[in-house]
Amino acid sequence: MSAHTPVQDTKFGKKASGPVGWLDDRLGLASANKRTGLIRKVFPDHWSFLLGEIALYSFIVLLLTGVFLTLWFQPSMGDTVYEGSYTPLNGIEMSHAYASTLDISFDIRGGLLIRQIHHWAANIFVAAIIVHMFRIFFTGAYRKPREVNWLIGLGLFGLSIIEGFAGYSLPDDLLSGTGIRIADGLVRSIPIVGSYLEFFMFGGEYPGDVLIPRLYMLHILLVPALLAGLIGAHLLLVVYHKHTHWHGPGRTNNNVVGYPLLPVYTAKAGGFFFIVFGFIVVMSALFEVNAVWQYGPYNPSEVTAGSQPDWYMGFLEGSLRIMPAWESTFLGHTWSWNILLPGAILPGVMFALLGAWPFVERWITGDQREHHVLQRPRNAPTRTALGVAGITCYGVFWAAGANDIIALKFHLDIYAITWFARIAVFVGPVIAFMITKRICIGLQRQDNEQLLHGYETGIIERSPEGGYSERHAPLPDEEQYALTAHDRLPALDEATPTVDEYGVEAPNPRGRRLRDRARRFYFDGAQDKPTADELEESQEHLGDYEGHPVEHTDGFRGISETGVPRDHQE
Ligand code: HEM
Repeated sequence: MSAHTPVQDTKFGKKASGPVGWLDDRLGLASANKRTGLIRKVFPDHWSFLLGEIALYSFIVLLLTGVFLTLWFQPSMGDTVYEGSYTPLNGIEMSHAYASTLDISFDIRGGLLIRQIHHWAANIFVAAIIVHMFRIFFTGAYRKPREVNWLIGLGLFGLSIIEGFAGYSLPDDLLSGTGIRIADGLVRSIPIVGSYLEFFMFGGEYPGDVLIPRLYMLHILLVPALLAGLIGAHLLLVVYHKHTHWHGPGRTNNNVVGYPLLPVYTAKAGGFFFIVFGFIVVMSALFEVNAVWQYGPYNPSEVTAGSQPDWYMGFLEGSLRIMPAWESTFLGHTWSWNILLPGAILPGVMFALLGAWPFVERWITGDQREHHVLQRPRNAPTRTALGVAGITCYGVFWAAGANDIIALKFHLDIYAITWFARIAVFVGPVIAFMITKRICIGLQRQDNEQLLHGYETGIIERSPEGGYSERHAPLPDEEQYALTAHDRLPALDEATPTVDEYGVEAPNPRGRRLRDRARRFYFDGAQDKPTADELEESQEHLGDYEGHPVEHTDGFRGISETGVPRDHQE
């Protein structure tokens, strides 16, 4: 059979045409596809685009395994006496929720594996979301027209944390109960309305007997439905805007270079789903996660030493642990800053900053254009440095959440660790900002150096006078293109005029001055790429070798340390 036989003429095509035609008559899929061109939509190929897919696939794994768990889990805080296979807890009074979790783990065939898969998938889901968000941030993929999708993504991030926390709280074991106790304290710390909210949430005095059924409703219905809806909107927007792509010859702001949705991308994505699923299953079979039977049933008067939440709650745990004990009384109410600031205001500020960033950056740069080609992180040094500073701050809070474990394992003083974290949370981001910015600027200089002076070929030449020098050769065209595929820097030396040509004062002069200052901060130190003239001149100079010129188009990339020619081209 020729490679070009139309699918409808193949044996399979002829067989499938009956049912496909039947469906098309009823659903109009072919004409919908003709209108939208959906199955020919192009997806570019780069490993970093798989991060969002990992989030998507772990969400599917969560749905599949979650359905299995609902068949056996009993969301009730009513009392029972455990009489299952796990003998150390036999005869102990506990809630139905905890007892049914033990049953799933020890008495339902395959139950423990499914519980483990569900829990690992949740941890991977949030991790993939965060790393996916990093890639969007550091490559500037959120720029116009993708700001709304960035905000939807943030909504997904927030919801996934709520979903994880709700699920983690369901088994009603001593560890998860401790987490709920923290949430209770947090709600109560909200000034004026805190205690009313607490009564509303718990149906009366803490812990009450309605919380688990309520969390169950949130965990299996409301939040997953919101997540599924928002993921749908998120992906529709990816299709509508088209995916961004990396620079390269032929890749512009007006096209996407990659594979069509059908068949190539679908086959790859389908395969990748099973790789992610398989990976999670292997992890779940090999590594224990949330061994609830070791903690015992929840009792508000007990806390296990070394309690640790799931990893994504670590930064909130850390911020609570290192916050000094500040409290004040105002309007006849206690204001518990020690809980309110780290527990509610800090995450609020984090989400507000993340949500505002695309708009703030646009205000600073004044860039109103659409962007479909990604930026290399080094070419936006201040943004990259701010991102690394943010991650450093998050990382310190996160590590502080394990201050007791660090003290124990490294034989350190817990107060010293707490004080270190209190200082590092402010100083660390500043240092990280400075170092990252220097690295980005250094890398930009290195790019310019390579463009103007070529790469080192490893060929040492001896001049008639006896001196030695290494021969440089121009980079291949493709690499030159990639290194120069970014915008020139705007002129920063002139401040935006505060009066127009007729002497009329422009509105909001203070805002303009602030913006000028922000622009100088944003572009400070960034290196401009060489001009076309500079590049042309350097090419002439680099090709100007007597003897055996090195052609930059022939794939030759110099000689390695061992004297073997090295070919860098793919
Ligand atoms: C449930 C969570 C999420 C899922 C399942 C998800 C899934 C995806 C997928 C599959 C893509 C296309 C492939 C890729 O570029 O990686 C994508 C693109 C995108 N995502 Fe997400 N994402 C999630 C959360 C987030 C978050 C937290 C953000 C940022 C705050 C975000 C912002 C974006 C943006 C702006 C794009 C377009 C990127 C481009 O065209 O280059 N997403 N997402």
